[in-house]
Amino acid sequence: MDLGIFIPIGNNGWMMSKNAPQYMPSFELNRTTAVRAEEAGFEFLLSMVKLRGFGGDTEFWDHNLESFSLMAGLAAATKDINLFASVALPTMEPAMVARMASTIDDISGGRFGINIVSGWNQIEYSQMGVWPGDWYYEKRYDYAEEYVTIMKELWADGVSDLKGEHFQMDDCRLSPPPKNGGVPLVCAGQSDRGMQFCAEYGDYQFIIGTADLDVVRNDAGRLMAAAETSGRDVGVYVLFQITMGETDAEAEAKWQSYKDGADLEAIKFMTGQAELDTAGATAEKITEMQGAFNLNIGPIVGSHATIAARLDEVAAIPGVKGVMCVFDDYPVATAEFGEKIMPLMECRK
Ligand SMILES: Cc1cc2nc3c(=O)[nH]c(=O)nc-3n(C[C@H](O)[C@H](O)[C@H](O)COP(=O)(O)O)c2cc1C
Repeated sequence: MDLGIFIPIGNNGWMMSKNAPQYMPSFELNRTTAVRAEEAGFEFLLSMVKLRGFGGDTEFWDHNLESFSLMAGLAAATKDINLFASVALPTMEPAMVARMASTIDDISGGRFGINIVSGWNQIEYSQMGVWPGDWYYEKRYDYAEEYVTIMKELWADGVSDLKGEHFQMDDCRLSPPPKNGGVPLVCAGQSDRGMQFCAEYGDYQFIIGTADLDVVRNDAGRLMAAAETSGRDVGVYVLFQITMGETDAEAEAKWQSYKDGADLEAIKFMTGQAELDTAGATAEKITEMQGAFNLNIGPIVGSHATIAARLDEVAAIPGVKGVMCVFDDYPVATAEFGEKIMPLMECRK
């Protein structure tokens, strides 16, 4: 089973909590994490694209680096690990993204791939005047199909003449191509249409981990069914939030503290509950909101042995080819995971 890390391109990683480590994203933080990940034996790193934060006391994700530039820097700072950058399709033209990918493929010696984000979060795009219009909600994966076809043609043939509904190429050229005549594509759509897109055009599908592994099993099954229809080999990568301690109790106490410190204003923004008066909300409502402090990414909390055993369970789910980790304190947790959890994982032996 592959292991990867969702690296901290945005401030405070994936924890909307006043009690979690507070940090700005920087190249140095991500370089340290990447080098430690490589030393520990992780197979890949992914950086997201996020263009508008949620605010609140922690200014959650108000501070974000740019995904391709960051991965280009990490490509030069690493030797073996695979690197994925994310593109939000409305923000960049496919011919330019194809050329950026060829360039980072060259810098990294063939270790680069792209996470295709079709993009539905209007405010991220309308703030810079590139929201295509509300038709885009429905048609964004049709748009993505044309977009990705252009990139694949440019990489494989050096030319695209695609005349589509959304893009018109006119003897568009690209050279040099990536080493292997293309770069891997990953996708993270959770809808059936998103998964169908990945099954037809992608190499790996991310799904969001949950505490109940039956949900993961079901989501992996949805992807596999789509891949059977498309006749392509597409692996599932599952996203989990890892909180570790020397003992289960220590890890659980850490987790509870993060949850207690939930940034309710940021959560309110994320969940679209702008009308909610958090000062006057009921205790039940507050507890429910606190539960979203980690963006509802499935938590795995416990000692090194507990986490290793849980990941072995995940590895046994049909279709699952890897796990991507989110951590609290990235440089520390990356090294600790490599030293104390990886050696205990049966699925890595
Ligand atoms: C692992 C993972 C990575 C993602 N990366 C991004 C990202 O970088 N930027 C973004 O706007 N959305 C990102 N998303 C959201 C997805 O691209 C997708 O829009 C979302 O899961 C909704 O699915 P749908 O498009 O099928 O409706 C990510 C989701 C997951 C699970």
